[in-house]
Amino acid sequence: MAARAAPESLSVDRHGAVAVVTFRRPDQLNAISTPMMAEITEAFLGLGRDPEVNVIVLTGEGRGFMAGADIKEYAGQADSAFDDFQTRGRAMYAAIEDNPKPVIAAVNGYALGGGFEMVLCCDIVLASSKAKMGLPEVKLGLVPGGGGTQRGVARLGANRAAYLLLTGAMLPAATFADYGLVAELTEPDDLMPRALALAGELATASPDAIRELKTLVHFATRNELPAGLDREGEAVRSLFRTDFAKARVREFAEKSAAREREKRG
Ligand code: COA
Repeated sequence: MAARAAPESLSVDRHGAVAVVTFRRPDQLNAISTPMMAEITEAFLGLGRDPEVNVIVLTGEGRGFMAGADIKEYAGQADSAFDDFQTRGRAMYAAIEDNPKPVIAAVNGYALGGGFEMVLCCDIVLASSKAKMGLPEVKLGLVPGGGGTQRGVARLGANRAAYLLLTGAMLPAATFADYGLVAELTEPDDLMPRALALAGELATASPDAIRELKTLVHFATRNELPAGLDREGEAVRSLFRTDFAKARVREFAEKSAAREREKRG
């Protein structure tokens, strides 16, 4: 069998029984492209099966943890390709949330849209005091398509989730610590050392007990999740077809292309 090419948009580093997954598309604030989505899914499925890995830490290189789905890719997408992106996104988020290993998010910077939805799939969230998070899809005339409406309510409560969803506000990590989503807020330089220390601690626990605990927490919070995710999936697909969303998505991509032309002179 031919060897698989190394992933380009992320790295996986081992620290004993702890695996650190780092998104590495920093010039795009780690926005998720289609190839990146495939690499993330594959990395998490592989780590889930790896008997030498007990805990996974997830972080991003640069100013972004992950600034959401790649809006510039959206801008060129036919409706059917958008639908496909959403379907594959659901599998990616499941590979994280349902991973048999606990996943610790070490949120270093922007976690927006799909990036925040990824945070919502992690078991424990640590964040740098510099990080900012939110669900800005409404500004594009869309709704989150990666579980933000469902897991947002489950993990933040309906009032906070509604505020975030309806305003599209980007709030500092300290607010999410107040909300209880961020378990520990750290200085930026302390984030990874703390995440690794915590992961190391979890890595010594019984993997069977950890797996059961993850399942039990999910039981308590997401009985209606599959139906909610189906409904959310329908909403985002239908909104992508509206003129409002098409115009906002195109505007974002055109602004970026203009900056690129300016840079090139
Ligand atoms: N999709 C595609 N590209 C993105 C992106 C996204 N979600 N978020 C950021 N980028 C790109 C920018 O286009 C820019 O690339 P360019 O230099 O090639 O144009 C680069 O990342 C840096 O972003 P920039 O906007 O210049 O940084 P900033 O510090 O001024 O603003 C944000 C940071 C996060 C506030 C801003 O990038 C933003 O609003 N991003 C979109 C977030 C979003 O709506 N996510 C949900 C998507 S459904």
